[in-house]
Amino acid sequence: MSTERDSIGIGLLGAGVVGGGVARILREKADIYARQIGCPLELKRVLVRDVAKQRDVEIAPSLLTTDPSAVLDDPSIQMVIEVMGGEEPAFAYLKRALTAGKFVVTGNKEVMAKHGGELLRLAREHNVDLLYEASVGGGIPIIAPLKRDLLANDILSVTAIINGTTNYILTAMSKGGGSFADALAKAQELGFAEPDPTNDIEGIDAAYKLCILATLSFHADIMPADVYREGITKLDARDFEYAREMGYALKLLAIARRRGDGDGVGDGIELRVHPALVPQDQLLANVDGVLNAVEIEGDLMSRVLFQGPGAGSLPTTSAVVGDALDAAVSISNNVYWPHSFRRESGVKPLPIDQCQSRYYLRIRVVDEPGVLARIAGKLADGNISIASVIQKELDGARGGGEGNAEIVIMTHEALEADIQRALGDIRALAGVAAVEQMIRVRP
Ligand code: NDP
Ligand code: HSE
Repeated sequence: MSTERDSIGIGLLGAGVVGGGVARILREKADIYARQIGCPLELKRVLVRDVAKQRDVEIAPSLLTTDPSAVLDDPSIQMVIEVMGGEEPAFAYLKRALTAGKFVVTGNKEVMAKHGGELLRLAREHNVDLLYEASVGGGIPIIAPLKRDLLANDILSVTAIINGTTNYILTAMSKGGGSFADALAKAQELGFAEPDPTNDIEGIDAAYKLCILATLSFHADIMPADVYREGITKLDARDFEYAREMGYALKLLAIARRRGDGDGVGDGIELRVHPALVPQDQLLANVDGVLNAVEIEGDLMSRVLFQGPGAGSLPTTSAVVGDALDAAVSISNNVYWPHSFRRESGVKPLPIDQCQSRYYLRIRVVDEPGVLARIAGKLADGNISIASVIQKELDGARGGGEGNAEIVIMTHEALEADIQRALGDIRALAGVAAVEQMIRVRP
């Protein structure tokens, strides 16, 4: 690499929602960026599946290609921006790009969650950088602060709303009082949810993003299999009513939390994605619609909250192009300072049964003497303390049938293993029709 160059060549993998935005902004702000960096950025090739496809963004037909080698083997391309999505072939292409000594920018959370460690090692071996700000929180700056500004802290917890689709659905259910199916259909109609929404509504997308945040926060290799995951499909309109009555909002939270005092007993990191009750007076409870937010707690700076658009073409383009400019500065100055932290803290992911939380339980019972006392007895047997109880008679319209009642119990903090055991016992009690819901409260 020389310090005097006419331009820095960029290869773009993907020209969809994000790639289209990147191509457009690189063109529209070309002069500004050239002045900032000291040389122009030149988009040289754009890999797509279908060159004939109608696109919202204007890309010269001569740039479009379906041949990955046209990008990955072109020595005039010093930087590859990957916004194709999916694990393969994206992972293979990123390895090829890094091995060829190209800087890489990606927004691919699946690849970074599953293979980030290997790709970052490869980047270091070839003296290039791999930047991935867009992989979590779209336009919200969160990767760079964790890599740099917050480094002096021991991170104690990360608590995040990092999936816009589910936050949109939960906000709609909370405000409109409708069912999950209705809210999902509306989100699909408005283009917020994919035709196949599985990755979002089952918490898979949020779990990938949590892996990336937790790896940076706790200096350990956190993999998707380490994250306990529950989606939002089983939430009922009644849970939103009770949540409101008790002063909570319902959110899909991604939580990574350090536990233990370092003596080795019970030490580790809780890693979980699940619906959670968030007290209404907390900032996270009021992050609505497609917005994302990440709250980081550190031993020095206490809590900070990063909030903003977690998806969308231009917000995500902001993160991608920001990384591209950072890489361009390294390329044009022929210097590269790897943000290479070690992943050897030794902290271990904790299994879900060792996690601790307060719990909301909604139980359908036969409305007869002694049922509540028997349920309370099973919780007491499990060393679980009750914080509050609501009991309501159910009529046919509320799905209970005459003579049934619904009991909602909020517990104090308890161990997940104890709650699961107690719920098993409660299900077997005479007079208990069903344990219909269990929702954790945010720590
Ligand atoms: P799109 O589906 O809109 O675009 C994908 C692009 O990649 C398309 O241009 C497609 O080509 C191309 N492509 C896909 N597979 C291949 C392949 N095998 N060979 C060649 N080209 C291929 O995705 P998005 O722009 O929405 O997302 C891109 C990435 O950014 C993903 O990793 C996503 O998770 C991430 N991201 C997206 C956000 C968003 O708001 N959309 C927010 C944050 C991150 P063609 O156009 O011909 O079909
Ligand atoms: N499907 C993701 C979301 C897109 O809904 O947040 C951004 O990663």
